[in-house]
Amino acid sequence: MIFRQLFERESSTYTYLLASRAGGEALIIDPVLEKTEELLQLIDELGLRLVLAIDTHTHADHVTALGALRDATACVTAMGEQSRAECVTTRFRDGERIAIDGLHLRAIYTPGHTDESFSLHYEGDAANAARVFTGDVLLIRGTGRTDFQNGDPNRSYDSIFNKLLCLPDDTFVYPAHDYRGHTVSTIAEERAHNPRLQVNSADEYVAIMNNLRLASPKLMDIAVPANLRCGRAA
Ligand SMILES: [Fe+2]
Repeated sequence: MIFRQLFERESSTYTYLLASRAGGEALIIDPVLEKTEELLQLIDELGLRLVLAIDTHTHADHVTALGALRDATACVTAMGEQSRAECVTTRFRDGERIAIDGLHLRAIYTPGHTDESFSLHYEGDAANAARVFTGDVLLIRGTGRTDFQNGDPNRSYDSIFNKLLCLPDDTFVYPAHDYRGHTVSTIAEERAHNPRLQVNSADEYVAIMNNLRLASPKLMDIAVPANLRCGRAA
């Protein structure tokens, strides 16, 4: 399998490129608009053909490259069924299998950070470890804020404890962001060491999330409307 984790410094966003083999079809998760040329160059250098670009949710801190990648490569653009983005080609549902040549992911509906957030699970095989791409729902040693974009700490708790933490312990966790330099974790590691998850009840978690008092993301007023139009400015 070909797997690349790319980092966009301004918004501390991770983008993931996956393909089953050199010369084959590729998919990309959470691409950032400013990185479009770089991504296209990498895809070209690896001899891949981009067929699918996915956003885990509508981002508030960066503008998506979904529209730009679709224009450049004619790839399919995809988000979850609850997404209000106008230009996604296809919408996936909870449990749906998302397949390209030689590789498939399972969509897991994980609302909480937003009401349209999905995680994407790669089950792995004999040669490749299992991975879950958690968007902003489960971060490394943190969880995505729940105080805007129809976020809901109760749903975040349910998504994390009753869905993501039910995946096998050794599943690698790849979030959409990290602000401290972590690149990867595992389900077991987050269950044991993520400070937000050391709670005895949903109420305890909700209380933590309701007391974070975070500033709005710098780009929120630009990014959210643009992302609902697949990355085009007003
Ligand atoms: Fe987000």
